[in-house]
Amino acid sequence: FLDDAAARAPRRGPAQVASPVEEIRLEEVAYRYPGKEKPAVDGVSLTLRRGEILAVVGVNGSGKSTLTRLVTGIHLADKGRVTWDGVDLADADPASVWRCTGLVPQIFAQWPLRVRENVTLGQPRSMGDDEVWEAVDAVGMRDAVEGLPAGLDTLLAREIFGGAELSGGQWQRLACSRALYRRPPLLILDEPTSQMDPRGEHGIFERIKAIAGDRITIVVTHRLENTKIADHIVVLEQGRITEHGTFDDLVHAGGTFADLLRLSQDR
Ligand SMILES: Nc1ncnc2c1ncn2[C@@H]1O[C@H](COP(=O)(O)OP(=O)(O)O)[C@@H](O)[C@H]1O
Ligand SMILES: [Mg+2]
Repeated sequence: FLDDAAARAPRRGPAQVASPVEEIRLEEVAYRYPGKEKPAVDGVSLTLRRGEILAVVGVNGSGKSTLTRLVTGIHLADKGRVTWDGVDLADADPASVWRCTGLVPQIFAQWPLRVRENVTLGQPRSMGDDEVWEAVDAVGMRDAVEGLPAGLDTLLAREIFGGAELSGGQWQRLACSRALYRRPPLLILDEPTSQMDPRGEHGIFERIKAIAGDRITIVVTHRLENTKIADHIVVLEQGRITEHGTFDDLVHAGGTFADLLRLSQDR
């Protein structure tokens, strides 16, 4: 994954971003995937501030996941720029950016390792189990983990003797706990709760809200009720921001957000 990202970004410089990041700015950012005719993100300007939660909504293919990759420098903008406290990601050492980032991508790794490693893997912190349990608790997984044959030591690979398999929603919770364990200055969750039951999902969003003061948070979600926790919401359509405001602003704007909310409530 990192090699792949590095191969896409040969022109980066040595600038270091400082932790914690206070402000991330996107200025007229555009990005087109190689071989694609249309840009996936097309002229997006946004300011993200420490302590705030941004929610990103939009139909499939509107550019939400691509936007998360541009904010984190996994992809570099073709046009425009992304700056972290004034440092252009095109000039920044990606390691300094990713050290500050906790990203739960839509398709995340399900490591065939023990539960503990699935929480701590790749983290620049080495601590005891208390912090692992704290992260497990934060996503409402304590009972499930305690119910596994060997608790935190259970191997999450069913094909191996003594191993166990989790449900889709439980894997999502574990992926979220991995990001929370990191306590990142930038936390991004890309449709983190799509396979969870509504109660579990609500619990995770409450948790995200509770810890949002220390960091910049971005949540991508198709469940519009969840965006109530956000300080601001953007609606993406074909790579462009078509609406931007608070939940109440957008409910009353009579645009796509209000339409989608009505549809979701009809179901
Ligand atoms: N790795 C990729 N390679 C080529 N095209 C991609 C890739 N990922 C996404 N796209 C395209 O970019 C557009 C935006 O996709 P994406 O950012 O995944 O949207 P969303 O997350 O809102 O569903 C879509 O047209 C999609 O087909
Ligand atoms: Mg996506």
